[in-house]
Amino acid sequence: MGRSRVKGSLKRAVYDHPGEILTDSGQMRQRRGRWAEAFGEAAPLHLEVGMGRGRFLAELAARDEPVNYVGVEIKPDRCVTAREKIRRRARRPFVVLNAAVEILPQLFLPGEVQRIYLNFPDPWPSYVYRGRRLFNTAFLRLYQGLLPVGGELWFRSDQAACYEELLASLPPRLRVEEHGCDFHAGGHEFTIFQTEYERRYRAAGATIHHARLVKTGSGILEIRAGC
Ligand SMILES: C[S@@+](CC[C@H](N)C(=O)[O-])C[C@H]1O[C@@H](n2cnc3c(N)ncnc32)[C@H](O)[C@@H]1O
Repeated sequence: MGRSRVKGSLKRAVYDHPGEILTDSGQMRQRRGRWAEAFGEAAPLHLEVGMGRGRFLAELAARDEPVNYVGVEIKPDRCVTAREKIRRRARRPFVVLNAAVEILPQLFLPGEVQRIYLNFPDPWPSYVYRGRRLFNTAFLRLYQGLLPVGGELWFRSDQAACYEELLASLPPRLRVEEHGCDFHAGGHEFTIFQTEYERRYRAAGATIHHARLVKTGSGILEIRAGC
């Protein structure tokens, strides 16, 4: 799709579906600390960073669990597709933010996000682009700051190197609760919720590495990735 068509469809989506997709960071900032009010319902807030085309959140929001959902994605066309996909099935409040993960501390108060999903956050496999990897030390610190004590970060990737890098880069207050190199072998109830990239990689024969991290009240921990 050309840039002007993408812009046009994004503008239309924002206009036609107020509150379901936001592009204006000023409007997003106004909701900081007041997301429950914006959703019209106080419920734990679960956020997917780099959500892509929204398959995963569409499946989660189709359940009747008391959760409010936020998806963050930097690419406008993906946001438009994600909003449509989630809306088709949603039984829960949701919003899609067309924003960079880097500005999340301006959009959410510390502790305002109960759970963060970080699914296949490796669009920049080259070492040269490590600053852009959504799981590098700086990003992990950022996520840590958004979570309350007891809040969780759920990670999945097909890349063993990403998984190892994540576990080696943890800030002091993110503790590993569970982790492994074959998520789908473990009988985990969450394996039914799959992302677009996950389906693609699994179809090509990849196994999925995963980790669930919990924010603790104080630091400490050492963890080895080896499987
Ligand atoms: C490899 S895709 C994974 C998409 C989805 N999570 C999945 O598993 O199917 C990574 C996504 O992160 C988005 N992304 C990359 N850097 C970002 C950033 N700084 N802020 C927000 N989104 C970003 C990309 O546009 C892309 O859609």
